[in-house]
Amino acid sequence: MANQTSHLGTVVIGGGTGFIGTALSNTLKRKGYDVLTVSRKLGPYRITWGELNSKGLPESTTAVVNLAGQNVLDPMRRWTEGFKQNVWASRVNTTQYLAQAIKEAPVKPKVFVSASGVGYYPCGKDEEFDEEGPGGDFDFLSRLCSDWENAANLPHDLGVRTVKVRTGVVLGRDGGMIQQLIFPFFMGFGGPVGSGEQMMPWIHIQDIVGLFIHAIETDNVTGVVNGVAPQIITNRDFAKAFGRAMWRPSFVPLPTFVVNMMFGEERAKIMTEGQKVVPAKALDTGYTFKYPDITKACTEFSRLINIDRTDS
Ligand SMILES: NC(=O)c1ccc[n+]([C@@H]2O[C@H](COP(=O)([O-])OP(=O)(O)OC[C@H]3O[C@@H](n4cnc5c(N)ncnc54)[C@H](OP(=O)(O)O)[C@@H]3O)[C@@H](O)[C@H]2O)c1
Repeated sequence: MANQTSHLGTVVIGGGTGFIGTALSNTLKRKGYDVLTVSRKLGPYRITWGELNSKGLPESTTAVVNLAGQNVLDPMRRWTEGFKQNVWASRVNTTQYLAQAIKEAPVKPKVFVSASGVGYYPCGKDEEFDEEGPGGDFDFLSRLCSDWENAANLPHDLGVRTVKVRTGVVLGRDGGMIQQLIFPFFMGFGGPVGSGEQMMPWIHIQDIVGLFIHAIETDNVTGVVNGVAPQIITNRDFAKAFGRAMWRPSFVPLPTFVVNMMFGEERAKIMTEGQKVVPAKALDTGYTFKYPDITKACTEFSRLINIDRTDS
């Protein structure tokens, strides 16, 4: 850790080594924050979960973020009860550890921002959900979101603002869904999942990072915030935009039964079904999206591939 702390203070990030965590850490550092990651592995500017439990938060901590979580869509892992337990514990327990560290800290951070998912809301095309929408109680993933968000609750008298970001599919070159889709799309085998008519709540990586920072820095952002772009699209809209941005066709569908076979039906729902979610609170509290539409977003993360194409 740096000997001299930044005047902006330290942001402690659980899961700061992941796709979103790395992008968030880099942006926070560029802004002048110190960043300390809580990880299962040792490394520079990192502490382990055990060290967090025994030593607590550094006194300079101004914000705590949790982005830890076992990858739900790991194709190498079968959707067994054991794996579901890992998925649950890696989110709920880590959030509880950070909440406990905040409760015990002699000097409190200003804010605790924890990830959650749009899986909280029911799937479908008819109803549109802002942060007041119903959910959190109808299947494994929705109940996981409820438990995850409840784990971030802190007693009011602690004076620590709490924000839970219900995140949609995060799109960016360095991780998540795009990393898995780049190859098939590049080879011309890309297309929608199933009928493609299901909704796809999405957000560009730079905007999810922007929203976490908005949540850290904006005093009137509290409670649940939907982490999705304002443009509501279907999975087919995404496939078309991504194909076009890569100068490739995008009409080879990935049949629903294949996705169900690969991931198990309960988990495959993340791809075969989707929710209609709007970022009401982000917009109401003054967040400006850098990538509000899918064409602009796809053009950004396909840029390097198009450069490769022009060079060849
Ligand atoms: N990416 C998306 O599209 C998306 C959408 C909705 C919600 N989210 C949520 O946002 C969070 C961050 O997403 P991400 O895409 O950045 O995830 P990621 O790249 O998979 O990284 C998550 C981090 O969690 C830690 N982790 C993994 N398995 C763990 C376990 N069993 N126990 C404790 N920690 C574990 C890892 O850190 P160490 O190896 O350093 O311990 C990893 O770097 C996740 O909770 C995810 O569910 C993501």
